[in-house]
Amino acid sequence: MAGTGLEWHRVAADADVVEDRPVGVTVGDRSIGLYRLDGVLYALDDICTHEFAILSDGYVEDGCIECPLHQALFDIRTGEAKGPPANGDLATYPVRVEGDDVLVGVPTGAE
Ligand code: FES
Repeated sequence: MAGTGLEWHRVAADADVVEDRPVGVTVGDRSIGLYRLDGVLYALDDICTHEFAILSDGYVEDGCIECPLHQALFDIRTGEAKGPPANGDLATYPVRVEGDDVLVGVPTGAE
């Protein structure tokens, strides 16, 4: 089905995503990292744009996630690459909370 809509998936319990402790989840083929920063939830692609590393295994520092492999930095709020050797920004996904559930919206028809 072609389309540009969003499909919402429950990925975690709200209480499971805490400050400084990223949570890696999968939605279909996508790996997504969940973050809580100053109380707000964010969802970013979880694979580094440099090589293959799972960013949610890295450290959160000053609003950025640091890649565990070569220490590239990405802004958690925007996905923007902040330092080498990142090869580009990370995709971001909208997040919403319903009751105790965290939902992430992924584009439909775009794999
Ligand atoms: S794999 Fe992330 S910086 Fe190299």
